[in-house]
Amino acid sequence: MLVLGIETSCDETAAALYDSERGLVAHRLYSQVPLHAQYGGVVPELASRDHVQKLLPLIDAAMRDAGARPNDISGVAYTAGPGLIGALLVGASVARSLAFAWSRPAIGVHHLEGHLLAPMLEAEAPEFPFLALLVSGGHTLLATVAGIGEYEIIGTSVDDAAGEAFDKTAKLLGLPYPGGPALARLADSGRSGRFRFPRPMLDRPGLDFSFSGLKTAVVVATRGLTLDEQTRADVAREFQDAVVETLVGKCERALRQTGLETLVVAGGVGANRKLRTELSELGQRLGVRVMYPRPEFCTDNAAMIAYAGYRRLAAGQCDGLEIRATARWPLDTLQPPCAERADAVGSELGPRDA
Ligand code: KG4
Ligand code: ZN
Repeated sequence: MLVLGIETSCDETAAALYDSERGLVAHRLYSQVPLHAQYGGVVPELASRDHVQKLLPLIDAAMRDAGARPNDISGVAYTAGPGLIGALLVGASVARSLAFAWSRPAIGVHHLEGHLLAPMLEAEAPEFPFLALLVSGGHTLLATVAGIGEYEIIGTSVDDAAGEAFDKTAKLLGLPYPGGPALARLADSGRSGRFRFPRPMLDRPGLDFSFSGLKTAVVVATRGLTLDEQTRADVAREFQDAVVETLVGKCERALRQTGLETLVVAGGVGANRKLRTELSELGQRLGVRVMYPRPEFCTDNAAMIAYAGYRRLAAGQCDGLEIRATARWPLDTLQPPCAERADAVGSELGPRDA
């Protein structure tokens, strides 16, 4: 079974092909970072227009990389949400149209399900059940994952997501968009001990997070200071330490509470080196396996969408002829594939070799 995956939920245009026998056979990504950098953040309308221009050539390139022709494709998976509605609509319209033209099933994939399943693209894939820490630009959550579509959220951010906190703090420090990776790089040359920021919610019971106060702590601590290079690096270092310590503390609590023996880390902030090191140490201490996708599959990509779509299509699920795009879509409303089985039109176009 060969599934074409398409991702356009925010500022990356991506296309990938996942083969049930050979694994990932092609993945292409075009980043809009230079387009948005001059505005200091993503401009939704520009994102949509750029997806329109880049998506078809990118799909073409991915098909060529895989040596695949339309007839080889068993189904098309696309990100149906959550995300920027205009950007989602571009991927959804193209995916649904290609599937229709090729007489193949299409399936709208939840972006966060893609992130959660991304570690399964690796040679050593995690087995269900596991605990997942999902840390992206829009979400911070701890979830138990019992199977495809069996997600229970046991902790979430009550305000800013971890990635959002990285991005906003980076902006305060005058770093260019996207701030997370830039702040992480700056933190490498920072010294610890000069600043002390809170470790939000660690002193309270429960598994929820809160990151908006950290941003305020940075504003207060730097008020009146000259933000020379070393000062900015010291702030970045302490900020990153505070976020990482908080995430690791909550993961430890969740692992002890659930008794799960595997921790999967997903989403853009999962690419953070300091976080990966500290979580690996936690894993060693608790005798828990800690697994991550490679850094390029932590941030947005189409490989994870092709894979999540493949898992659902292979289980017999597919959509009808509608174009699905949903800006807000809670992860815990998802169902396992069988419970959501194909509706009328979709089932007539069932996957060729599922
Ligand atoms: O998962 P993702 O690519 O997009 C969303 O679905 O949101 O995550 C993007 C977020 C951004 O906030 C970005 O600053 C952050 O992940 N990020 C990082 C790093 N790489 C990406 N944050 C900290 N350290 C990094 N190395
Ligand atoms: Zn994402």
